[in-house]
Amino acid sequence: MSDRSAGYVTDTGYTFGYHAALNPLATRLAFLRAGLEPPRIVTACELGFGQGVSLAVHAAASHARWWGDDLLPEHVRFAQSLDAAAGSGSTLAEATFEEFAQRGDLPQFDFIGLHGVLSWISAENRARIAAFVRDHLAPGGVVYSGYNALPGWADMVPLRRLMTEHAARAGNGSTVERIESALEFTARLLDTHPLALRAGPRVVDRFERLRRADRRYLAHEYFNRDWHPLYFADAADLFETAGLRHGCSAQLRDHLDALNLTGEQRRMLAEITDPRLRETVRDFVTNPQFRRDYWVRDARPIAGDALRDAWRETRVVLAVHRDDIPEKVSGMLGEQRLSEAPHRAVLDALGDHRPRTIGEVHASAGGLGLDAVTDAVVELAAFDHLSIAQDDTAIERCASRTARLNATLVAHAATSDDIGVLASPVTGGGVAVDRLEQLFCGAIAAGQTTPEAWMADAQARVTSVGGAAIGDVAALARGARRFASHRLPALRALRIVPG
Ligand SMILES: C[S@@+](CC[C@H](N)C(=O)[O-])C[C@H]1O[C@@H](n2cnc3c(N)ncnc32)[C@H](O)[C@@H]1O
Repeated sequence: MSDRSAGYVTDTGYTFGYHAALNPLATRLAFLRAGLEPPRIVTACELGFGQGVSLAVHAAASHARWWGDDLLPEHVRFAQSLDAAAGSGSTLAEATFEEFAQRGDLPQFDFIGLHGVLSWISAENRARIAAFVRDHLAPGGVVYSGYNALPGWADMVPLRRLMTEHAARAGNGSTVERIESALEFTARLLDTHPLALRAGPRVVDRFERLRRADRRYLAHEYFNRDWHPLYFADAADLFETAGLRHGCSAQLRDHLDALNLTGEQRRMLAEITDPRLRETVRDFVTNPQFRRDYWVRDARPIAGDALRDAWRETRVVLAVHRDDIPEKVSGMLGEQRLSEAPHRAVLDALGDHRPRTIGEVHASAGGLGLDAVTDAVVELAAFDHLSIAQDDTAIERCASRTARLNATLVAHAATSDDIGVLASPVTGGGVAVDRLEQLFCGAIAAGQTTPEAWMADAQARVTSVGGAAIGDVAALARGARRFASHRLPALRALRIVPG
């Protein structure tokens, strides 16, 4: 490990996750729901972008111009290869946060995102990030940050410490080899029922889950020198030094109080006037392990007619087949029926997967109030059934870039199931598409028209590059039939598959 890495794991690359909250367009629903004017985002930056899947998707699928940095050369090379394939022209630097901040060519950013970064770096590097935000976030700009939260992680602190102590003192070889022996040791120790690890009842379950996890994820999640889950108040302090205040949760599910809080808890939280204390108390109530937040410079409240107009102008699209939407969804405490009249009205209006404004949806909603319609939209979006949609000009402008990026992602799917997303110029972001579905998308792009031909094409793509098997014939046939009936209409409408 070099000093430059400040104790960060550098001998193994990270996983290839996609994080929708890093999509600048995703700010719109959350901000309107919180009564804030959504930001206009033209320049965007992702710090510590990892393999760069999110950045490459967002740079290809929307009009924002992107910058970003990461410490690991292999991450940056992969991210650059995706960005170059799409032709997005982003500026992606192999640089530490400190080095990146010293570049002379950085614009003022409307959006700065960091997912899975704050909790895995030193206090010094967190301060550098705050200084970067202070110096480079434009007026009205937004920071997205996703980080490990307290008290949600509290019971894992001793176990994580035990594993890293073992890796450092008793382990040998690469980070992954040290992880293997630390896991084996910890499993043996847990079998002896040590008193210290009995205190947290969820620890054993969590250990069993992490034992099965991707070693690349474990290396970056648990085995860095720095691992600091943060209380909401710590994150608020950090961004306050950069002149920002908390805007709202970037996780739409957090905006659905009825799903997450009892009446008594809601009443208690409503009594707390200090927003920072209220969020802290809320974390004790719902105990999330990971928080996703938007922080704002110069937040502008919006209410009354202006808010109603902003809702009406918002364009949305149904992202999944209607049959795949469950009757009910559940949160921390409750259940919500997604089959009530407002949900049915929204799904009726959007069932053909064509983007429409909420004003259009409302007009066809048979006398339902605008609030009922926007509530249903937010609830459906919170569970990824519905997404924000760009205007037609933006869709046309981005479509060739997303087609090129998707061709590269589909080629990647021939050898691996690492990346579970393709880019949509309609939503300006990523849509979950698993490996088999990606291969079918590739087959259709190559001119194949029947499920049988997609299966043959998928097999041929995989075997021609020596990739891992994609399932037996029966599973493939089931997948192909379901793809044809349930996925293809939405993927065509989202312009992921040419229509
Ligand atoms: C846990 S990973 C998250 C990656 C990515 N944001 C994601 O969620 O997939 C943290 C990332 O921060 C990067 N990183 C850590 N310390 C850094 C530093 N000092 N300067 C720049 N990048 C750094 C790592 O290389 C890694 O890609």
